Amino acid sequence: MKIKVNSLADLPNVADKLLAFAGNEKIFLFNGEMGAGKTTFIKTFCKALGIEDAVSSPTYSIVNEYESPQGAVYHFDFYRIKDIQEAYDLGYEEYFYGGGTCLIEWPERIEELLPEKYIKVEISIIDESERIFEFSTVVKSC
Ligand SMILES: Nc1ncnc2c1ncn2[C@@H]1O[C@H](COP(=O)(O)OP(=O)(O)O)[C@@H](O)[C@H]1O
Ligand SMILES: [Mg+2]
Repeated sequence: MKIKVNSLADLPNVADKLLAFAGNEKIFLFNGEMGAGKTTFIKTFCKALGIEDAVSSPTYSIVNEYESPQGAVYHFDFYRIKDIQEAYDLGYEEYFYGGGTCLIEWPERIEELLPEKYIKVEISIIDESERIFEFSTVVKSC
């Protein structure tokens, strides 16, 4: 599913569409270059999930945790991870397989740890004010 976004004001609508697209899936990966709008969209998506606390990028830690009416939501930013051991030390398995919602920025940094099934959100920069959002369901085969 592809959606063209012309302004930040479009994001709540994109968040609702992503929720509908995802159904019961709880693992979301966000791909897109620096400045594409991953963190910005995740903030809007968290509002759509009913989270009331302010959402920011997890700058000092890899993961931030929020409470939504449907349970825990974990927001990861793996940009600064130096090696995969850091993800093990974090206890990534309990997050990914614990039943909470996971929103993952820079998933390419932990490629080998990604679950078998997830929703992929690809954000492409068209120009300063335009983005293309593309949703897909990914199922890795062994
Ligand atoms: N959908 C969008 N359309 C236009 N500008 C955006 C959009 N999303 C984010 N931006 C702008 O791009 C900048 C970087 O966004 P950010 O969410 O931090 O990107 P990322 O997390 O992908 O690095 C911010 O200044 C933000 O206002
Ligand atoms: Mg970011």
